[in-house]
Amino acid sequence: MTRLASHAFVAFGIFLLTSLTASAQVLPSFSTWENQRTSILNVGLVTGNQFGGFFTNRAPGFQCQNIPYPVQNGIILPNGAITFTVDFTACATVTTWKGQVTGSQMPTKWVLVHNGVQQRGSDLFRKISPF
Ligand code: BTN
Repeated sequence: MTRLASHAFVAFGIFLLTSLTASAQVLPSFSTWENQRTSILNVGLVTGNQFGGFFTNRAPGFQCQNIPYPVQNGIILPNGAITFTVDFTACATVTTWKGQVTGSQMPTKWVLVHNGVQQRGSDLFRKISPF
């Protein structure tokens, strides 16, 4: 590899790392978020615009409590726009949240579907880890 090619290779690596961490700063990998219903969103690895993790429902008045369900279709954009879906399989319920990460807060609106019936609401998540 020529000197120029190796410089270009390093520069491309730095560019890739920078673009990956840009999203990671909005929604940190391995951060924990709690909503006003005391449910917990554990964010796993944030890679580019995508993230995984687990959601544990603890909301009064809902079923399927205290079971960590995988986050599906987790997307976080550089401007903080976020969406994720949880399939509460044991309850035959699917919920999709959409919102905005702003610092340590994440106001969202959700749509829950159970047996063809929709329910809508809002959740305010606050980052509880890392501080
Ligand atoms: C069910 O009761 O059918 C499954 C659990 C649904 C929990 C919902 S999802 C939206 C809202 N926010 C929460 O933290 N929990 C409830």
